[in-house]
Amino acid sequence: MSDREAQALTDTRALAAQCLADVALGGASLRECLKPAQARLSDPRDRAFLTALASEGARWWLRFDKALDLLLDQPLRKRDPALHALLVLGLVQLEILQLPPHAAVAATVEATRALQRGGFAKLANAVLRRWLRERQALNARLDRDAATRSAHPRWLIDSLHQDWPEHADAILAANNVPAPPMLRVNARRTRREDVIATLMQAGVETTAHPFLCDGLTLSANTDVTRLPGFADGHFSVQDGAAQIAADLLDLHDGQRVLDACAAPGGKACHMLERADIELVALERDPARAASIEGNLRRLGLHSEVRVGDAGDPATWWDSKPYDRILLDAPCSATGVIRRHPDIKLHRRAGDIAQLAREQLRLLAALWPLVAPSGRLVYATCSVLHAENDSVVAAFLAAHADASPQVFELPVGHHAGAGWQILPGEGGLDGMYYAVLEKCG
Ligand SMILES: C[S@@+](CC[C@H](N)C(=O)[O-])C[C@H]1O[C@@H](n2cnc3c(N)ncnc32)[C@H](O)[C@@H]1O
Repeated sequence: MSDREAQALTDTRALAAQCLADVALGGASLRECLKPAQARLSDPRDRAFLTALASEGARWWLRFDKALDLLLDQPLRKRDPALHALLVLGLVQLEILQLPPHAAVAATVEATRALQRGGFAKLANAVLRRWLRERQALNARLDRDAATRSAHPRWLIDSLHQDWPEHADAILAANNVPAPPMLRVNARRTRREDVIATLMQAGVETTAHPFLCDGLTLSANTDVTRLPGFADGHFSVQDGAAQIAADLLDLHDGQRVLDACAAPGGKACHMLERADIELVALERDPARAASIEGNLRRLGLHSEVRVGDAGDPATWWDSKPYDRILLDAPCSATGVIRRHPDIKLHRRAGDIAQLAREQLRLLAALWPLVAPSGRLVYATCSVLHAENDSVVAAFLAAHADASPQVFELPVGHHAGAGWQILPGEGGLDGMYYAVLEKCG
């Protein structure tokens, strides 16, 4: 399909198929692919359906991509990625979204025409009807293998069983359940009960999180940017697990604070909502650094935003120590798969050792910048020991002046010197934290 033809697409399933092909077979990011596709749909219900289709397609790709090998004589994934993805989405509509079979089949057949693949309408019809006739036996075959049963890559299933033998199945299950967005109320602009009331009036049900004082859980998925109060900076989208960083930092007015890996600024803004601190928000990627500025503006907050490599302070540090440093390190993001299911498709086993080396490099480079009696909070949204307790243990072995602070949260597990929340626990994303204090 030419770029012009792709741009003319308005059929939701055809758009989702194009997106899914780019994500699953072209290595593109789901979030990035969805943006231009969304812009082609005017009805919010169509946009919501597009997001659900493409997201569930990515989440279940590793199952239904293999299902097509059982249904097709000749695989299509290389010859015609968009058509292949459309058939995967047909199976996702039947098995995961549980749409009425005749509607799912008819709309998928129709979408072959929108994709300029009308010649394959009969094939699409035959493949989906065969699935419906044989679904029990075919599902049983797919369930025999852990990778197709759970729709996760084998290396990740193995790592989870190794690191969390008693919790691995629960983690895999949690990753396969989409989670509605959580909100963080901006305590400088409003109160949580007022946000609940305003959203209730707009027909959106929310509940106050039981142990996060700024957290709100939405009962269903919605476009948060269109909710009353969002443009005025009354709240932001942020999972509750990420909101714990501000508590662990133990912020007080007047402190000098560094957020070393700051974009898009979720935790940086939360810190500024909590206390009158002097914050430097550092980010290596200039485009992502610009997104911090946008969030600060909307929320009415102020911080210095610097572009630089946290692992090379000589290029950006003014030599004045920080009372607090947050290192929210780049990681495998294996704790947030439920929100970003394309991580299953893009992350490779070999990435983990490389990430762990980078995490240790950043931790060691930032430690000299912590003031005596100051505190560094190490965070990742990974659930793998190699990026979490192993990194912190290696760091502690080489830094006698670092003292890990023992703490417990209402959900999660001790993990070496830190604490691990696993995906879905307490309704939260997976997140690891360690709190390190510098001996004064
Ligand atoms: C996990 S995200 C941070 C999320 C952020 N703390 C928040 O709450 O919104 C990690 C960020 O670190 C940035 N990054 C990666 N390596 C870096 C480095 N060496 N120095 C500074 N920033 C880095 C990435 O571009 C990415 O924006």
